[in-house]
Amino acid sequence: MKPYVILNAAMTLDGKIATKTGSSEISGEEDLIRVHKIRKEVDAIMVGINTVLVDDPRLTVHKIHAEKKDNPVRIVVDSKGRVPLDFRVLNDEAPTIIAVTENAGPQKIKELEKKVTVLKCGKDRVNLKLLMKELADKGIKTIMLEGGSTLNYSMLENSLVDEVRVCVAPMIAGGKHAKTLADGEGAHQMNDAIRLKLIKSYPLGHDLILEYIVIN
Ligand SMILES: NC(=O)c1ccc[n+]([C@@H]2O[C@H](COP(=O)([O-])OP(=O)(O)OC[C@H]3O[C@@H](n4cnc5c(N)ncnc54)[C@H](OP(=O)(O)O)[C@@H]3O)[C@@H](O)[C@H]2O)c1
Repeated sequence: MKPYVILNAAMTLDGKIATKTGSSEISGEEDLIRVHKIRKEVDAIMVGINTVLVDDPRLTVHKIHAEKKDNPVRIVVDSKGRVPLDFRVLNDEAPTIIAVTENAGPQKIKELEKKVTVLKCGKDRVNLKLLMKELADKGIKTIMLEGGSTLNYSMLENSLVDEVRVCVAPMIAGGKHAKTLADGEGAHQMNDAIRLKLIKSYPLGHDLILEYIVIN
């Protein structure tokens, strides 16, 4: 068993989820509200460590009315346990799970364990299939995957994503070093690309929302 995973992202028309400097204010206010409504519905939100290091996000429900109990579990995929101890994802607004590997230092793990739950999954990089199984065992049934590009691609490549929802903003950021919806190694042939089926599309403010299910 694995949790049901919804990959959600905001991107520019050219598929960038951040500029080359890491600036990522893409969504309009209406889209932020849409995202926070999903946060309120899911059991957990998952992000890669680079997203935490660049944005220091709270990963809570705060754009719509919500109580502390409405905050989903926050999961950070962080092989070496690099998350700084004073970052907001470790505050007491919501429970947090840091997924690390044998590469994380024992001292840092001890310090993290004073604040949050630490799960060891794999040797070099977090073993995402194992992580999903452990999260399902903990009763997590639904996850919103909120990036960034590297983790998005790894999750897709491992067939762990069930839905993709994107907010396409009417902007073009350009830049070959700007992060896209899914980076990582990428497919060799277009035949190997991950296939999706469009199930819903609608304008939201100045943006366009596209919702897909993953079919392979
Ligand atoms: N517009 C949006 O919707 C949106 C959403 C989120 C993020 N962003 C932007 O995306 C950028 C960050 O993206 P990113 O691609 O650099 O980083 P990321 O996907 O947030 O984090 C990637 C890191 O996760 C760790 N990781 C551990 N196990 C992994 C595995 N099995 N597969 C993949 N990653 C694994 C690796 O670091 P270790 O080896 O050290 O563990 C890896 O470098 C930021 O600029 C952020 O603002 C935009």
